[in-house]
Formats: sequence, C-alpha cells, structure tokens
Amino acid sequence: MAVKIGRNDPCWCGSGKKYKVCHQAFDDRIEKVRQQGHKVPSRDIIKTPEQIEGIKASAKINIAVLDYIEEHIHAGMTTAEIDKIVYDMTTSMGGIPAPLNFEGYPYSVCTSVNDQVCHGFPSENVVLKEGDIINVDCSTILNGYFSDSSRMFCIGEVSPEKRKLVEVTKECVELGLKEVKPWGFLGDMGQAVHDHAYANGYTIVREIGGHGIGLQFHEDPWVSYNTKRGTDMLMVPGMMFTIEPMVNMGKVEIYVDSENDWEVYTEDGLPSAQWEIQVLVTEDGYEVISW
Ligand code: MF3
Ligand code: CO
Repeated sequence: MAVKIGRNDPCWCGSGKKYKVCHQAFDDRIEKVRQQGHKVPSRDIIKTPEQIEGIKASAKINIAVLDYIEEHIHAGMTTAEIDKIVYDMTTSMGGIPAPLNFEGYPYSVCTSVNDQVCHGFPSENVVLKEGDIINVDCSTILNGYFSDSSRMFCIGEVSPEKRKLVEVTKECVELGLKEVKPWGFLGDMGQAVHDHAYANGYTIVREIGGHGIGLQFHEDPWVSYNTKRGTDMLMVPGMMFTIEPMVNMGKVEIYVDSENDWEVYTEDGLPSAQWEIQVLVTEDGYEVISW
C-alpha cells in the first residue's frame, strides 16, 4: 500500500511539483481500475524521465553489441567466441554483462541453438553450422540501469520451416508491440502474440516469460503470452517490460538440463525461436528501448 500524499506535498515522482498538479490524477485513474478488480502497477516500477535516460544509455551498449554480432556471426564460429565478444565489447563501453553471475549463471550471454529454448551456455564445443538458427540474448548493466534484448540469426541457408519459425516469431513480437499503450492491459499484448503463433501451428512456452526491467534485471510484472485481452496488469506511462515469446515449432513442453539447471530444451527436439524487445509505455503508445 502506498503512503498517502497530501495534495500540496511534493509529488512522489521527484519532479519537485505539487502532487495535485503532477501525479494525483494519474494515481486516481489507476486506483479506479484497481477497484474494478484489475492488477495495477505499483509506483516503484514506474520510471522517471531521469531513470529512462539512464536505461537508454544502457540499451545503447546492448544494441551496439547485438549489431556487432549480427554483422559477424557465421558458420564455423563457436558460441564461446560470441560470449567473448559480448564480454569485451560491453566492458570496453563501460557496462557489465547482466547475465554474468546472475543467480549463478556462468557466462556473459545466452546462446540458444535450434531446439534450445533459452539460457543456452556459450561453449567451445558448439560450432555454428549452416542451417542452424540461434538466439543471442544480451543484457547490460550501466550505472545500475538494465537493458535486455535478443535476436535470432539464421546461419547460412536454413530450411524454409526454420526460416518461417524465425519470421513468425518476429511478427508475434511486432503484433504484441502494437498493443502496448497506456490504460490498456498486458493481456491485450499477450493475446496478440499468442494468437499469431497458434494461427501458424506453433506453440508458446508457458513457464518462461518476459519481465519488468530497468532498475533491476527482473522486476514486476511477469509477462505471459497466455493471457486474454482485457486481463492481466494495467499498462501506464513509465512502465517498462520485455516482450520475449519463446515459440516452439512443435509441442509446448520443455525441460531443463539437469546437469546444469539452466539450459532449456524442447521436449520433442523440434526448434524453438525467440526475439526479445524492451519497451516503454509512453503517454500515447510505446517506445522501443532495446531490440
Ligand atoms: N536475457 C534473459 C532474460 O530475458 C536472461 C536470463 S537470466 C540469465 O531474462 F542469467 F541467463 F541471464
Ligand atoms: Co528478458
């Protein structure tokens, strides 16, 4: 429960303005939706303009690293080489790779190939070959601000089936993004992502989703793609989260490698694809912060 602020007290957002001319109407509007029985965001996940600038500076590194990998990834390269590029580039730009040591994760990046769903360990033994599809998931900390996005890469000629999976997964994110606007619900986005994947005969992993981000790696809300329009958390300006569906070509079931407790695979061995963007809810829609 938030502390009650007097109308003439300074606003909680740090603007220095009186509450009544700053966020009071905003808070009242959220409270109304909460009373209707919806999940609403707490103040601590609503970013201030200053925080947004800091997060954008972090994302600038994250995007530069992914751009570099996009240009240089090729058959014959190991995923350990990608890990080294991510570490070297991020640190040379003053950042820290957020995955490194996060809950014991031992690398700077996740590299998930073919039937790996997510959290793939970079390795000297994983040599990229023609026909592979790979997700490279980068996250950066700069001055305490977090950014997180991932892209798919096709190595050389890949089968039409795999290419379609990669493309449809990207479309899922784009369709979800269109639903991001203030005073809508996360479920509007979730259903758009879900419906496009399933219309193409694919499934979306249920256990792992997106997340709020910015001041921490993973903040509220947890972002699902199995939600219905008009349900789940209310979106308000200043909220920031990731859209990162893991789309399986075959069955929805996954398992975690019991040797390391990290790497996630499809149960049926069919490929899985994922794109991740970090998005800010603005006054009139959205802004993509990292991609
Ligand atoms: N970038 C991943 C995400 O979207 C990070 C997973 S946790 C890690 O949340 F430790 F593997 F990095
Ligand atoms: Co993420």
